[in-house]
Amino acid sequence: MWGGRFSAKPADLMQAINVSIGFDRRLASQDLAGSKAHAAMLAAVGAISSEDEAQIQQGLSAIEGEMAAGAFPFRDEYEDIHMNVEARLAELIGEPSGRLHTARSRNDQVALDFRLWVREACDRTEQQLKALQRALIAKAEPHADALMPGFTHLQPAQPVTFGHHLMAYVEMFGRDAARFADARVRMNECPLGSAALAGSPFPIDRQMTASALGFDRPTANSLDSVSSRDFALEALAAASIAATHLSRLAEEIVIWMTPQFGFIKLSDAFTTGSSIMPQKKNPDAAELTRAKVGRILGGFTSLMVVMKGLPLAYSKDMQEDKVPTFEAFDSLELALLAMAGMVADLEPNREKMAAAAGAGFSTATDLADWLVRELNLPFRQAHHLTGAAVKRAEQLGVDLPDLSLDELKALDPRITDGVYSVLNPAASAASRQSYGGTAPDQVRNQIARWKEILS
Ligand code: ARG
Repeated sequence: MWGGRFSAKPADLMQAINVSIGFDRRLASQDLAGSKAHAAMLAAVGAISSEDEAQIQQGLSAIEGEMAAGAFPFRDEYEDIHMNVEARLAELIGEPSGRLHTARSRNDQVALDFRLWVREACDRTEQQLKALQRALIAKAEPHADALMPGFTHLQPAQPVTFGHHLMAYVEMFGRDAARFADARVRMNECPLGSAALAGSPFPIDRQMTASALGFDRPTANSLDSVSSRDFALEALAAASIAATHLSRLAEEIVIWMTPQFGFIKLSDAFTTGSSIMPQKKNPDAAELTRAKVGRILGGFTSLMVVMKGLPLAYSKDMQEDKVPTFEAFDSLELALLAMAGMVADLEPNREKMAAAAGAGFSTATDLADWLVRELNLPFRQAHHLTGAAVKRAEQLGVDLPDLSLDELKALDPRITDGVYSVLNPAASAASRQSYGGTAPDQVRNQIARWKEILS
């Protein structure tokens, strides 16, 4: 492609470090779409003849067919996807192929291809996040009233419902989906026509290529266009955050699956056995989902480090943008699909969760609140008195609702047996009617709101 200036072939090692076709072949369809739009624009502004354009379009379509059939000859000696396509086009149509690169550089070409790829990845991920939200909602609905312990510090805190817990993740994944949608808005400007770095002397129509490729507008600075990858960084940042949410849910599935918790069951479809311990049923898919954060956050970190010291405009360092991004999105998409599968598959053990919901003095806050409401105690004093009640129950080896009225009256003689109505976990959860609270009615309201949003 640059034979004029060179008289010798590159060293094998030069080629080894330089070649990218092994991974940037994943940009093939984006590269072809960009070339088609570019050729049409060149003909429209009179930079190439319509006969040449017709041949170019035909050749590009033939290449598309070869790729679909798995028959396209990807060749290392042509370095990357852009030159592989151009070389093949030359073989197929001859001389007109050489006109396609008018007013274009691989710098704006790769900026375009990669942006198109990331845009599609964002769109797919957003849909997969929504599918996961739907799976969570479908599981939350029948269990909007299923009691379970709510934890802080992984210590029993207050009773909540399983539906409420699952809906917490629906909120997180909703923000994640919105982050991808927001990133898409900013990335949806077309770099094509920025050429090598300075723009083009040809009378190109950048608006035309931008709209042909589904962009809102062309980018406004040619240097920025070929040297910025923050669109990918932003998508990877969103991916990293989504991956942490997935990892937290995965961690909970692992915990809930232990016989010690026994809150949920996963079927054979989403568990594996052990080669030595016949009794085992392991939540490997959850564990792997938890671990995928490494690759995803790793991809974000990689690209950040690649970009952080680069002078404007293009440097070959930027070829290293692709592998981390591909790997991060491959991992995220697989984790999202696997998690949606696990959520649909899991069955909660309502009895076991309800029993655990009442353990560990989980209604102590309800006792304190009752003292505030009924005896008009300041909350701090009620907190102190309740602490004493918990201490007494612990001494006697009973739970709070099992303390006798005499024991309670010893702490404050004004306590009546009305107090018992707030000490069971179902009453505790049902009483939390504040907006966004765990009362089953409130949970059902949020389920209805999300169904509406996602419909
Ligand atoms: N394969 C290159 C990349 O991915 C394409 C751009 C090459 N540009 C250049 N001036 N060598 O970044």
